[in-house]
Amino acid sequence: MELINLEWDGAIAVLTINRPKALNALNAQAIAEILEAISQVASKPEARALIMTGGGEKAFVAGADIAEMAAYSPEQALAFATAGHKVGEALASLGVPTIAAVNGFALGGGCELAMACDLIYASEKAKFGLPEVTLAVIPGFGGTQRLTRLVGRARAKELVFTGDMIDAAKAKEYGLVLDVLAPDKLLAHCKEVAGRIARRGPVAIAQAKRVIDQGADAMLSDANALERQAFAQLFATTDQREGMKAFLEKRPPIFTGK
Ligand code: CAA
Repeated sequence: MELINLEWDGAIAVLTINRPKALNALNAQAIAEILEAISQVASKPEARALIMTGGGEKAFVAGADIAEMAAYSPEQALAFATAGHKVGEALASLGVPTIAAVNGFALGGGCELAMACDLIYASEKAKFGLPEVTLAVIPGFGGTQRLTRLVGRARAKELVFTGDMIDAAKAKEYGLVLDVLAPDKLLAHCKEVAGRIARRGPVAIAQAKRVIDQGADAMLSDANALERQAFAQLFATTDQREGMKAFLEKRPPIFTGK
């Protein structure tokens, strides 16, 4: 992988998009490498969280690569958008939580990549936006749909129609970002949250993620059925026995992910 670094801090994977000269803009190669990195995390049973961040000082990801897209035909654009959507699907189906550590510009495809993560934390220097209409296109990596689900239809339309950038404080006010950190504290904060999650029952975390995501797009009665089934299935795990036994014995649990 040339444009992506995947490093491990114990059970926590840190994926850095590392193309700072182009503000980490996503070309087809970067997207293919992100997919490869996610599949490496998926195939590692010890993995407990994935953090995504941007290399260099300025950007998380400043969007899809405009130079590469400029002469695309509609067919090429569809293939590119499909690859971008595959990243969102791979992040959603990953059995561990994904955390975007947004260290700078998160624009267009970069904002969409962050929104495809389960949790978004931002540096005070971060800027968010979907400026695609300034290029006379629309978001193509899931932005119209994920932003709408995160901030509501009217605010999503305002941001998509204007193409305006917002700062991290505004993004937090809108519900896009969970917390805003000093730039030098951002990654440590994300690792600390990931570390806390890593100490919980891993199968329960995977089920909680699945049920929250699938339930959000279902009718409440169907969504509640999903929850009941997942709750019940967890009683077939060794970790459930261990978690409750440890509580009753007043000791910390030792989870194995089984
Ligand atoms: N694609 C390709 N190259 C990009 C890029 C992008 N999205 N964003 C920045 N770059 C490149 C610049 O062309 C520049 O390259 P050179 O040094 O070779 O000229 C380099 O990165 C540094 O950028 P700037 O000089 O522009 O830096 P700045 O500090 O003046 O401005 C910025 C920063 C406001 C983020 C500005 O770079 C910018 O507006 N970038 C484009 C943002 C954008 O429109 N993103 C959406 C893309 S469309 C999309 O993402 C579609 C989709 O949904 C799938």
